[in-house]
Amino acid sequence: MDLYTKINEASKYLKLKLKDVPTVGLVLGSGLGVLADDIQEPQSIPYNEIPHFPISTVAGHAGELVFGRLKGKLVLAMKGRFHYYEGYSMEEVTFPIRVMKELGINTVIVTNAAGGANRSFTPGDLMIIEDHINFAFDNPLMGRNDERLGVRFPDMSNAYDKELIKLAEAVASNIGLKVQKGVYTFFSGPTYETPAEIKMAEVLGSDAVGMSTVPEVMAAVHGKMRVLGISCISNMAAGILPQPLSHEEVIETTQRVKEQFKTYIKEILKNL
Ligand code: 6GU
Repeated sequence: MDLYTKINEASKYLKLKLKDVPTVGLVLGSGLGVLADDIQEPQSIPYNEIPHFPISTVAGHAGELVFGRLKGKLVLAMKGRFHYYEGYSMEEVTFPIRVMKELGINTVIVTNAAGGANRSFTPGDLMIIEDHINFAFDNPLMGRNDERLGVRFPDMSNAYDKELIKLAEAVASNIGLKVQKGVYTFFSGPTYETPAEIKMAEVLGSDAVGMSTVPEVMAAVHGKMRVLGISCISNMAAGILPQPLSHEEVIETTQRVKEQFKTYIKEILKNL
């Protein structure tokens, strides 16, 4: 079965289930899924119920879509995403974005926890993604192009919508939040980078490094969706501070800033 048919079957299933039509997609990164808990009159759909959604091999909670109203906007949130480092194909990683597009969603807010490569950053900072570097050297659009999904050679000069960046900056200023802005570089993971790789990333113009987001953004741009990306700098990348990196620090920091993160995204939604 071709990708387009799978997308259509998944979205047909969701259209029948959802009480209304979402307009904004939210992809919630590690430790940031708590934003979905603030959605009013939520409708949760476990990923494993949706036709053709990637199958989660992780025991316990596989992730779910949460639909409902947040700050007056009808949102469809991904609580948990599919990571490339888990072994999912690029097609699987980006499938939910394709489905969002088919549902009629034209704006996506993509979030993640990321390592700070910019030495002036501090763990806990939030960063508006201005641009990205794909350092995983794979691309979800490789293979035969289906023109119904988008063009063969998508322009990436404005992958992160300029107006949304401006709006996100204005909102931060309005709520007295100091927000960073910069370039997000995608490494495949699951190892964190070496200090030499971070030095390289820095020289290449990276401000943050992470293991997600870029595939989803490429698929969203293919579908001509407006994208806003927000990183939570959960730790400094390798070689910047003396201590080793750990997933515990990532969790700890996202826990610490989650209220600020929630407030920020909700204010952005309100002003969308
Ligand atoms: Cl330092 N690197 C990558 N690739 N992902 C991260 C990270 C670092 N910190 C949080 N996520």
